[in-house]
Parts: sequence; C-alpha cells; structure tokens
Amino acid sequence: MKVAKRTFDAVIVGAGGAGLRAALQLSEAGMKTAVLTKVFPTRSHTVAAQGGVAASLGNSTEDNWHWHMYDTVKGSDWLGDQDAIEFMVKKANEVVVELEHYGMPFDRTDNGKIYQRPFGGHSQNYGQTPVSRSCAAADRTGHAMLHALYQRNVRANTQFFVEWMAMDLIRNADGDVLGVTAMEMETGEVSIFHAKATIFATGGAGRIYYSSTNAFINTGDGVGMAARAGIPLEDMEFWQFHPTGVAGAGVLITEGVRGEGGILRNVSGERFMERYAPNLKDLASRDVVSRAMTTEINEGRGCGSGKDHVLLDITHLSPETINKRLPGIREISIQFAGVDPIKAPIPVVPTCHYQMGGIPTNYKGQVVVPKDGNPNVPIPGFYAAGECACASVHGANRLGTNSLLDLLVFGKAAGETVVSDFQSGQLSLKPLPDDAADVSLARIARLETQTGGEDVHEVRLEMQRTMQKHAGVFRFADIMKEGVTKIMEVAERAKRTQIKDKSKVWNTARTEALELDNLIEVAKATMVSAEARKESRGAHVRDDAIDCAETPNGRDDANWLKHTLWYSEGNRLDYKPVNLQPMSADVEPIALAKRTY
Ligand code: FUM
Repeated sequence: MKVAKRTFDAVIVGAGGAGLRAALQLSEAGMKTAVLTKVFPTRSHTVAAQGGVAASLGNSTEDNWHWHMYDTVKGSDWLGDQDAIEFMVKKANEVVVELEHYGMPFDRTDNGKIYQRPFGGHSQNYGQTPVSRSCAAADRTGHAMLHALYQRNVRANTQFFVEWMAMDLIRNADGDVLGVTAMEMETGEVSIFHAKATIFATGGAGRIYYSSTNAFINTGDGVGMAARAGIPLEDMEFWQFHPTGVAGAGVLITEGVRGEGGILRNVSGERFMERYAPNLKDLASRDVVSRAMTTEINEGRGCGSGKDHVLLDITHLSPETINKRLPGIREISIQFAGVDPIKAPIPVVPTCHYQMGGIPTNYKGQVVVPKDGNPNVPIPGFYAAGECACASVHGANRLGTNSLLDLLVFGKAAGETVVSDFQSGQLSLKPLPDDAADVSLARIARLETQTGGEDVHEVRLEMQRTMQKHAGVFRFADIMKEGVTKIMEVAERAKRTQIKDKSKVWNTARTEALELDNLIEVAKATMVSAEARKESRGAHVRDDAIDCAETPNGRDDANWLKHTLWYSEGNRLDYKPVNLQPMSADVEPIALAKRTY
C-alpha cells in the first residue's frame, strides 16, 4: 500500500533536551532537519527535571572533572564505561556555559555566577565531602532548559512535526537505517520519513511501572522500535527509584531539597540515613537512599496510618530559602500531599524515575551492535542520545543531575557526528524497500480488525503491576523468576489488543495501543535481564547474591562485570565487556573498589 513520503537530511524522534540539542547542531549546520514529537516540544518530559545539571564549574565550592568522573564511576557501581564518562564530565562546563549563552535563566550567586547546589553522590576529593555541582534554575531547571533550546531551534529553522508518533524503524537488507514510519495523531494517517540520518531521542519508559515520576508520554517508543527492528537493548535490568516521590502520587520532589538541607526522618523522627551512609547521609547515592527508606518502611519504622512512607523535613529552612530555591516543590507538596513544607514534613516514598539502560551507543552517539566479533560496530545512519540511549555513563546507578548533563553532552555529540558524516559524504539517501511501511500498516490494521481481543488499559495495568511487584527496589530470585513467566503472558495478551473506536481523528486509543507495544518490549527486556543477573550491583539488589571478599554487598566482579544485551527475537541474552579504560592515556582508570558513602 502506498503512503505519503517526506524526505529530510535527518529525522530526529523526540523533542526533549537530547532531541532539541541534537537538532540545533544539525539545523545550524544547514541540514534539513525534521523533529517528530508526540507533544509540543516544551511539554517533553525534560520539562519535569527539577534540581539541576551537573558541571564542575566550582562556583560555590572547589571542584574539578576528576572528582566528577570518580563520583560517576563509583555511582555506576563500576558498570559505566570510563571512556564515555571521561568524555561527559570533561564536556560538562562547555555545554552548561553554552546554554547560558542561549539565554537559559540560571539562578545566580551573589557575585553573578551560575548558582550550584549539592546533590546525592557528588563529592569533593574522591568521596570526602559533599560538593555544590548542580547548576540550577530554582527547582525548574528542565523547564528553563527546554525553553532555551526550543527557541534556539526556532531561530535555526528546525522543522517540527508536533503530535506525530514515530511507529517503526525502517532498515534495508544490509541493516542500514533509512528513517521511520510515523502516524499523525490528529488524522491517524501514516507517513514515511526518509532520511540520511535518524536520531532517536525518545526519553525513558518509566511507565512500565505502576508508580513512576515519569510523564504519561514516557512509553519507551524509541527503545521499543529499536528492539522490534532487531537491535539489542543494553543493561535494561537497571532502573532508578528516586527516593522522594510524593507518597501515593509518585510526583517528583527534587533531590535538590536534600541539597538545600532537607532531612529524611522515620516515625521516631530519627535522621536514619546517618546509620546507612555515615559520610554523605541524606546525600548518598540514590539507590542507597531508596533502599534505606524501603528498609525503614519494611521494618515497621514508616510513617502514617499505613506506616508506608517516610518524611522529608525542611521545616528548619527559612521560608525565604524555600520560596526562592524550591518554589515548585512547595506548590507540588501543597497540591499532591496537602502539606505546606514550610510548616510540616512531606510524605515520600521511592518511585520509579530513570532507565539506566537503553539502545547501545558509543560516546559519539552512534548506535552500536556486536558484529564479527566486535561488540561495538556502528549501524550506518542510526544514532541515539538521552535516556533512550545507553552510552553507558550511568552503569548500574545514575547520579542525580547527570541525566540533564547526559542529554546535553550526547545530544550535541550525536549532532556533531551526524554533521561530520554528512559533510564528509558518508551519509546518503539509500533507496527505500517497497515494503517500508507494511509493518506499521499491519499493526494498525490488527488493532482495528481484531475481534474478541484484549483491552489496552487492562493489559497495561497488568504489566505495570507485574513490574512493580517483580522488579522493584529489592529483588528476590523466586519473585523475579515468576515475573518472567508473568510478563511473557502479558506480552502475549498485548499482541491481541484491539480498539473499539475505529475513527481516525484524534484517536487516543490507537496511540495508547501503539505505545503499549513499545512498553512491553521494555518490560520484557527488564524482567529477563534482571532475572539473569545473579549478583547485586547499583540499583539491582537481589536476595540471593553471594558476598565476595572485596565487595561484601553482593557485587560479583569476577562473573558479572559485563553489560547485558537483550534481543527481542528469541528473548535472547548476550553480554559484552565494560570499558574500564578512560579515553585519554594520561587519565588513571578509577580502580574497582567497595562502594560506601
Ligand atoms: O531530584 C531531581 O531533581 C532529579 C534530578 C535527576 O534525576 O537528575
């Protein structure tokens, strides 16, 4: 069947921070660039980022990129690739200052420099004392960032396709990527976006869990598309649970609250983090704080009638500080918890927040797959950046504020690589196969013609409950095993979803059914990869992990210091080595060590 075709030098899927940063690079270089986005760009999920972006500017406390690199490698529980981490932390100051020049309204210190606050796991002097490294615009940093990047893209003539949902990756017989199919959400029409380069910047998939800080749009579209197109997904067992989601609502309360002096307390009012992380306390790494909170709740020291949350206390801060540095948090707390944090502590629980794994990429933003014995061979024409990609700089646990840094650095790097490949003539418009849109058209036809099929909402809810129970903050061998069986059953049901409303115009049922296809790929990858990793590392902590001499927390470097690769076809797992070697010969690797805060 014939569908409309549009041709560009490059198509970017996603208009959050990574997509906009990459698009800017391309458009400013004169490339004809299309950005597809399900929502208006400034409503992309980056808008929800609160506490800041990491850079060792040293404006408030002494700092340097060596310390930032050490903290990031340690935070990753040594699963992060040290070449990519070195690249990211060294680029941090440049991308932040660039944003400032684009007009981003950062808060200021008294002497006019960019304001910086402490964040979990970020330290001075290799873990000694907290450092102020997070560059912030109050508690609305992502919001300010998106607006600055969007305006800059408008100036550079980037073409936006707003309320368009990408459906499937188009590859030729050699595996090269030629663009995507996409559905215009208003009309339901499918089109082909044919391009020399395709960049995925589709964000995360936190909606696979029942309780999440993620927006409803975070359905892992790029990750799902890549998996269905035969590309493996890397390290999907590692999900970050942010310590402070509003209890019962999941809405994010920034770690910046603890950066400004907030304290976590249990039912006795005890500052319990002193027992779990004597050095950095409430500002320990997120996985450590989330597990401590869960332990307090599980052992009966939770608060409220259900003893099911702990309290985040900022009543000792002045109302002026709260109103100046944390105005959004005060508003969220009043709206979602019914509590004014000036007067009373906020009820909080760990909530799914960030996907550490994703589409495998190198530090240049090229999507890489194993081929002919080499684990990292670039796929011609395909690039990815931001949360949907695994560069891998976060390894088994990401540090707060390294997400905004990741999307700026690797959005820009992907853009630079595409521009350089374009200008050197390495990119060309390869012929489309005749059946380029057939898979997408068949997916839509199935939804419309299926009878006696499954309800999208029921299947999605079952998936979310399964993931919440079987792959949460603490993981248990038998529960994960059961989770694999369950999620495979849910995936079978997802193949039989149907929509009752057949109209094409603004059919959100159709969009949600297509999103579920993507979520299911992410959920399967997570469950299967988690069950298979027989150690504890970063955010993946299982009950049956064996303590090793140097790492008495269940980490097993001898057998599990490796990246997982999950293939959708055949539900198959493979592994590839972690790069422990920094990029520069004169930079010392961060040696494996026990991880304590
Ligand atoms: O807590 C926060 O403001 C979240 C930041 C992040 O995830 O990097």
